[in-house]
Amino acid sequence: MTSPPATRYLSDFEHARDNPQDFWGREAAHIRWLSPPESVLDTRAAPFYSWFAGATLNTCDNCCDRHVEAGHGERVALIHDSPVTHSVTRLTYDELLARVARFAGAIRDQGVEKGDRVIIYMPMMPEAVIAMLACARIGAVHSVVFGGFAGPELAKRIDDATPKLVISASCGIEPGRVVAYKPLLDHALELAAHKVARCIIIQRETQGCELVAGRDIDWQEAVATARPAECVPVAATDPLYILYTSGTTGQPKGVVRDNGGHAVAMHYSARAVYGLRPQDTFWTASDVGWVVGHSYCVYAPLLLGCTTVIYEGKPVGTPDAGAFWRVIEDHSVNVFFTAPTAFRAIKKVDPEGQAAAGYDVSSLRALFLAGEHCDPDTAAWAGQHLGVPVIDHWWQTETAWAITANPLGIGDLGVPTGSAGRPMPGYDVQVLGPDGTPVADGQMGDIAIALPLPPGTLTTLWNNDTRYVEAYLSAYDGFYRSGDAGYFDEQHNLWVMSRIDDIINVAGHRLSTGMIEEVVAAHDDVAEAAVIGARDADKGQLPVALVVLKAGCTRDEADIVAELIAAVREAIGPVAAFKKAVIVERLPKTRSGKTVRATLRQIADGDAVQIPATIDDATGLDEIAERLATIGYARNDGQTAPSSSGNRP
Ligand code: COA
Ligand code: AMP
Repeated sequence: MTSPPATRYLSDFEHARDNPQDFWGREAAHIRWLSPPESVLDTRAAPFYSWFAGATLNTCDNCCDRHVEAGHGERVALIHDSPVTHSVTRLTYDELLARVARFAGAIRDQGVEKGDRVIIYMPMMPEAVIAMLACARIGAVHSVVFGGFAGPELAKRIDDATPKLVISASCGIEPGRVVAYKPLLDHALELAAHKVARCIIIQRETQGCELVAGRDIDWQEAVATARPAECVPVAATDPLYILYTSGTTGQPKGVVRDNGGHAVAMHYSARAVYGLRPQDTFWTASDVGWVVGHSYCVYAPLLLGCTTVIYEGKPVGTPDAGAFWRVIEDHSVNVFFTAPTAFRAIKKVDPEGQAAAGYDVSSLRALFLAGEHCDPDTAAWAGQHLGVPVIDHWWQTETAWAITANPLGIGDLGVPTGSAGRPMPGYDVQVLGPDGTPVADGQMGDIAIALPLPPGTLTTLWNNDTRYVEAYLSAYDGFYRSGDAGYFDEQHNLWVMSRIDDIINVAGHRLSTGMIEEVVAAHDDVAEAAVIGARDADKGQLPVALVVLKAGCTRDEADIVAELIAAVREAIGPVAAFKKAVIVERLPKTRSGKTVRATLRQIADGDAVQIPATIDDATGLDEIAERLATIGYARNDGQTAPSSSGNRP
């Protein structure tokens, strides 16, 4: 792909910085509004900002109806490629619109109205996308929960979002096992204090489920009698969705996304960051349960009129390590987006890329990676075997789109491998020192974004303005604190190096160590526990628990560890990938009683250990290293670590 010169990036960046009203007002012209905004940016309630206040629109109208009315109804909107069910399904924009409108009618028949919340707990099937768009169509607020979370995590989200309806499926299909979703849902509904009156369940051929009479309705029956629903106008500032993400405590944060700013940002980022055009096929190998799935499996490609590929499979094992190349060839994918961990999984089983040989991937223009730090080896391997530029870009659930990138649609900036790129138009990114002032290029600091954030970014946390301000806006006056640390190089490329809080990144999934600690510490024999994210060559990080037993406990340690692993799987779900714990005599603490997690992480990773001056007593650290060595950590040969910092200039 030939990118425009970098001057286009510069002009967009400067325009958005110097005159955001004008820049985003211009970008808003790509969206069909039902009534125009009174102002592009309303700052009156700062630090709560509103984009496009006074306007009305419907996001589903922009994703479906608009393309059909423009004569593109026969264009393929969605391809569901499902190696786990051996099927490929294509829906044109005509078909997608018809199914969404019908399902919107079905949920309206269940009493769901504008502003009501609907939880969607589904695997990667077209109905998950249809359910999301149907909610948007009638102005209901969806909250998709990733299928790898177990009942108790789902229950927390049900209690926070208080949905009128839950939409789910009988099962998901993981390699080698069928995940029965319905018992997990039933368990969650039992645990939740909020009582959900109705569930719509899609019965899958692989494995059906029992429906609860009076509460559960079969998807097919619900649509059989439904009349298609028209789009309901919503305010640009009304919520489109809530997406829960890990905070530093066990209580997830409900990120709130608006309709208007989101539509504008999705449309802009699809073109500017990914270089997409309406006829393109865009494949994001993620899950609709994550923000990447919301933005780039569903909303951005459909807003632009592209074809989106929904993949229900894995990079390896469905059936082999050539799966990514097969999908790219079969659907002539133009732009591909996934997490680095997916390529590490492929490289591990097929280091020479033999399974990729023979596939024609000449349709592909670029590979985008995000979700975790991308180690240069993986980027180089992917680039070599796909034959396209590999672009790392940095963003978060909170932002919905890239904060930094190499934006192929508005200029190739020649970003070096290992950097996550330059700030996107609309983001004033600063690296701050402890005193809240910007540090010099090359120096590490907290990565922060000056307010206001651009359209599409979170407007608050659901039902919790106070937590929104405390978690993001209170550390540095006038800034959003990202929670990541890094530095700018002299060309203003950002290098994102680590988290500054207790959030860890496991296979591109964001998890809080606090939430795992809560489950471990609740075990009868456990006095206290610390969970750290230890480096892992495949998944980036893996949670490891250091556990102190209650005095007098004489039970077999292996039994206790097995019970802890089972408890985390039961309470949080398989997504936590919690498989390692060691029993230690005591946890090292500061004089004020805080466990020194950073020191524990350095020991586990085999890095040089910096003992904080505030530590109370450092004598137990050797014992901890010995215990961690018994489960494969605390090695200083680098074997547990993906190379990550090799390219720092
Ligand atoms: N429903 C139920 N269980 C699920 C699930 C789902 N939707 N997704 C994953 N799981 C289970 C897995 O089966 C596995 O279970 P196991 O412990 O019995 O083996 C466990 O959760 C851990 O899964 P994961 O760590 O994701 O490993 P994996 O081998 O299933 O998948 C990848 C590997 C690379 C495909 C996957 O981690 C991935 O897609 N990561 C990228 C995440 C992402 O898109 N992040 C957003 C930024 S791009
Ligand atoms: P999530 O909200 O689940 O998308 O996770 C966001 C977090 O993932 C960020 O705050 C980072 O810690 C990490 N992350 C995402 N993309 C990158 C990237 N390109 N480089 C480094 N870290 C990343």
